[in-house]
Amino acid sequence: MSLRGKHIIIGITGGIAAYKIPLLIRLLKKEGAEVRVMTTRSAHEFVTPLTLSALSQNRIVTEFTDRDQWNNHVEWARWADLILIAPLTANTLAKLAQGQADNFLIAVVMSAENKPVLLSPAMDREMFQYPAVKNHLDKLTSYGFKIIEPAEGELLSGLSGKGRMPEPETLFEEIRRHLPKDGPLKGKKVLITGGPTYEPIDPVRFIGNRSSGKTGVALAEAAYDAGAEVTLISGPSKVLPANPAYEVVRVETAREMFEETKKRMDSQDILIMSAAVSDYSPENTARSKIKKKDKRLVLELKPTPDILKYVGENKKEGQIVVGFALETDHALAHALDKLKRKNADMIVLNSPDKEGKTGFDSDTNKVIIIKKDGRKKELPLKTKKELAHDIIEEITHLL
Ligand code: CTP
Repeated sequence: MSLRGKHIIIGITGGIAAYKIPLLIRLLKKEGAEVRVMTTRSAHEFVTPLTLSALSQNRIVTEFTDRDQWNNHVEWARWADLILIAPLTANTLAKLAQGQADNFLIAVVMSAENKPVLLSPAMDREMFQYPAVKNHLDKLTSYGFKIIEPAEGELLSGLSGKGRMPEPETLFEEIRRHLPKDGPLKGKKVLITGGPTYEPIDPVRFIGNRSSGKTGVALAEAAYDAGAEVTLISGPSKVLPANPAYEVVRVETAREMFEETKKRMDSQDILIMSAAVSDYSPENTARSKIKKKDKRLVLELKPTPDILKYVGENKKEGQIVVGFALETDHALAHALDKLKRKNADMIVLNSPDKEGKTGFDSDTNKVIIIKKDGRKKELPLKTKKELAHDIIEEITHLL
C-alpha cells in the first residue's frame, strides 16, 4: 500500500533511540506520506529540530505556543491518520497513563479519539521490568493504544536485553499495518495458504516440492492492498517478507498447515488455499538419520489432511473458499470436478507450459479462473503479482 497523501504524526520523547527517527521520516516521505513531528523538550538533546524539519518539510512543534502563535493540539490530532510515539520514555509513558497533559505531545495524543496511536517504548532492561512501567503499558493497551514490543539486543547501559526501540524499517511496517485502510476488502478477513510443505522422513530429509511461495505472498499483498486483514500461512519459502504488513504464520508440514488453518477458519470471510500441499507424508518419521544399507529402502506413505476439502466442507454461510489446481490433461473438466468435490466457490487453474513461463519457480503464470456457476475467465500470461491482483478482484465480485 502506498502512503501517498497519508497524514502521519511522529512524536519523539527524550531517549537515545531518537537518533534513528530521521531515517523513519525519510522512509515515510519516500512513500509519499505527509509527516508532522512533535517532540518533548528533552528530545532535542538527542536529535535536532533542524534535522527533523528539513526531513519532514514541516516545522517541529514542542510547546503549546511558539512566540505569539498557539499550536492547536486538537487540530493536530484531527489532521492525523495515525500517530506514532517513538521512542517513548518511561516518563511520558507514565504521564500518558495518568492523563497528565503538561506538554503539547501528550495533549495531541489525548485528543486523538479514534485514531490509531502506536507507542514504541524504549528504555533499559531494568526500567522496562519495573512494575509501574508494566502497569502503565497494560493500562494504555486497555485504552486502545497499540504497544510496539521493544526489541532485544545491546542497550546503552552496556547490558543486553529487551528494551531497544525497533529499527526504523520495523516501525515503518507497523505504521503501514495500522493505517486505516480503504478498498473493496475493507473490514474483511482473508486467510491464505502458500508455499510447499515439507514432510520429514528423518531429522535431515523430507518429501517436498518446488513451490517457491511467490503466489501466496503475492496474494497476501494484493488482499492487503485491497484493504483486508490478512493472514498468510506459509510452508518453507525464501520469499516471505521480513517485516510484512500482515500476519505470517510459518509452518513446515501439511498437518501443521491444516491445524493452523482450522484454528483460524471460523473468523475468516475469505479463504484462499494456494499452497502446494504434499498429498502424502511418511507413515513414520525416523528419530535419527536413516543409515545407508545395501538393500532397497521402502518408504510407507500416508495421506495428509486435505485442507481445501476440509475448509470447503466446513465453510459457514457467506464464507468464500478459493482453491488452486494444476492439471495437465483434460484440465478444465478436472478443475471443475475439483471445485465440486471440494465445495469451493472458485478454482484458479494453472496451465503449465513448455517454455517455463508458468509454474512453481517462475515469476509469471497463466491461469483460468473458474467459478461455481461454471463461468470461466482465461487470463493472459502475467506476472504472479499482477495475477494476484486479478484473482483478488474476481473474489471481490463474489462477495
Ligand atoms: N490442497 C490442500 N490440502 C491438501 C492438498 C491440496 O489444501 N492436502 C489444496 C491446494 O492448496 C489446492 C488444491 O487443494 O488449492 C488442489 O490441490 P491438488 O493437489 O491438485 O488436489 P487433489 O485433490 O490432490 O487433486 P489431484 O487428484 O489432481 O491430485
